[in-house]
Amino acid sequence: MTVLYTDIGELVTNDPAAGDGSALGVLHDAAVVVDGDRIVWTGPARDAPAADRRVSWAGDAAVPGFVDSHAHLVFAGERSAEFAARASGRPYTAGGIRTTVGATRAAPVEVLDAGVARLAGEMRAAGITTFETKSGYGLTVDDERRALGIAGRYTPETTFLGAHVVPDEYADRRDDYVDLVRGPMLDACAPHARWVDVFCERGAFDADESRAVLSAGRDRGLGVRVHAGQLGPGDGVRLAVELGAASVDHCTFLSDADVDALAAGRTVATLLPGVEFSTRTPWADGRRLLDAGATVALATDCNPGSSFTTSIGFCIALAVRHMGLSPAEALHAATAGGAAALRRPDVGAVTPGRRADLVRLAAPSYVHLAYRPGVPLVSEVVAAGTRYAVGHHAVPVDGGAGPVDRAGPHG
Ligand code: NIG
Ligand code: FE
Repeated sequence: MTVLYTDIGELVTNDPAAGDGSALGVLHDAAVVVDGDRIVWTGPARDAPAADRRVSWAGDAAVPGFVDSHAHLVFAGERSAEFAARASGRPYTAGGIRTTVGATRAAPVEVLDAGVARLAGEMRAAGITTFETKSGYGLTVDDERRALGIAGRYTPETTFLGAHVVPDEYADRRDDYVDLVRGPMLDACAPHARWVDVFCERGAFDADESRAVLSAGRDRGLGVRVHAGQLGPGDGVRLAVELGAASVDHCTFLSDADVDALAAGRTVATLLPGVEFSTRTPWADGRRLLDAGATVALATDCNPGSSFTTSIGFCIALAVRHMGLSPAEALHAATAGGAAALRRPDVGAVTPGRRADLVRLAAPSYVHLAYRPGVPLVSEVVAAGTRYAVGHHAVPVDGGAGPVDRAGPHG
């Protein structure tokens, strides 16, 4: 069945050849035709071909489905007290991860699965139509394999992060843990993962340990991603570029050599402004990366420790306010940038042949994503051709005739 989405006041295609010639490829008074799960036509509404169904978006803006290339959704436990303590000056450290490891190991599979389902639902409502998620809160062979099995029920973009931190039971034998991760743990997890990742950072894994794990994963056919430059400068960014990683994520602390390597290589620099917000650390300099010619992605890094948000709109607003990105650059980074970070040419743009992932905004322009921070503007999501309504309205209960309504809150 074909569906014509029309009366789109402003359509962001991410096709520079379309529309206004900018990187966003903006079209006005536009339409999109979807056949099953694919886009088959985009262009001016007046030229649109006939379709089996017609849906009017009444002049609203539409953007490509967001691509969230970095999240950690498989976990249990509660860390809001840690967030509150940071608000009183306690610094973020990698050690908090171990709190979640304990809770995740202890949780039944149903609890972990329900947690992922809830967060994946939040992501869908936020307009995210493709997301990655990692293991990394199990840190035993069985717990890591279990996490990836759960993740794989929700997304094909699953990442093995056995090298998240060294778990307590290996505190005095870190070499043994690295051998476990790149040996038996990788054997058990590789069939359930598309990617391998390492937290290459002070307090986690150094460059040699990271290289050992990432190379082993790559030898098993996994794509490479790296966490680096979150807590301080280090070798992780250049290691990522050297190993041909699809993405290196955080990039808060970058040397000139790191920026040059990112500009010259194919590795995407993924910025995670929710982390800087939540951990009260300096903001990554997105402007510096873009000016140097690097490809930049924006992702939520949804996780219970450093960034517990599924709101990619919030991340766009933060990147505009604090990372030097324009609204156009931030939107591009959260769509086409995320697709590049996941090496997914089928998503991240609204062009014929791509997957039919579209977001309708209750706004006349995509600029409102940053201009109206914190406001849930996503009103409809089309994910692989399936249409979802997203409701954010207060609905009267009891027919709206309760005593408070009649009398007003103060009588
Ligand atoms: O991407 N940096 C490492 N991992 C997560 C944080 C995990 C946690 O604190 O639980 C991140 O920020
Ligand atoms: Fe992360």
